[in-house]
Amino acid sequence: MRQLLLVLLLASAGTAAATVGGGDITFPVKGADKAVFSHEAHVVGAKLKCQDCHPGLYLNVAKSKHATMKQMEKGKSCGACHDGKRASALDDCTKCHK
Ligand code: HEC
Ligand code: HEC
Ligand code: HEC
Repeated sequence: MRQLLLVLLLASAGTAAATVGGGDITFPVKGADKAVFSHEAHVVGAKLKCQDCHPGLYLNVAKSKHATMKQMEKGKSCGACHDGKRASALDDCTKCHK
């Protein structure tokens, strides 16, 4: 599963001419639709710096420290910003789960 994901990520990175940061990241999720993270939306759209997330919150897909929604509500992973103040709240599931 992880290998398949890496192959898909590498394939998509290869086709995009100007990939921002780590590109689009797909988190496989048990019990909900997969969650998608866009570097472009965060780096270009929200004007965040790489250091806002790396290496404090994330390294890369292979070393992903997976978080649950409960942990996000306590400020882990996406929840470090998606708290309804700094960025949109966690209650709008379809914003991230597609
Ligand atoms: C808002 C947070 C955020 C910002 C800002 C951000 N990243 Fe990321 N980055 C992530 C997340 C989330 C992942 C996936 C980590 C995981 O799977 O645990 C990631 C993964 C990566 C990866 C690894 C991709 C892979 O396939 O393993 C690279 C490379 C990367 N980012 C580079 C950058 C660079 C360069 C910048 C600045 C231009 C940047 N990132 C800005 C959140 C961010
Ligand atoms: C800000 C983006 C975001 C929002 C909003 C969000 N999620 Fe998630 N969710 C994620 C990401 C990313 C993961 C995968 C995290 C990982 O693997 O590290 C995840 C994981 C999960 C998981 C698996 C882990 C667990 O907690 O059991 C479930 C289930 C889930 N989400 C349900 C939901 C539901 C239901 C909502 C709405 C109430 C929601 N999510 C809102 C980003 C989000
Ligand atoms: C360092 C802070 C930070 C982290 C960490 C972060 N985000 Fe965001 N995110 C933002 C900001 C700021 C915006 C722009 C304001 C808004 O839409 O709430 C944003 C916007 C978004 C949007 C809307 C993008 C659009 O289409 O305009 C989605 C979806 C999203 N984030 C998903 C995620 C997911 C999934 C994660 C975790 C893997 C995550 N974010 C982690 C700060 C962050």
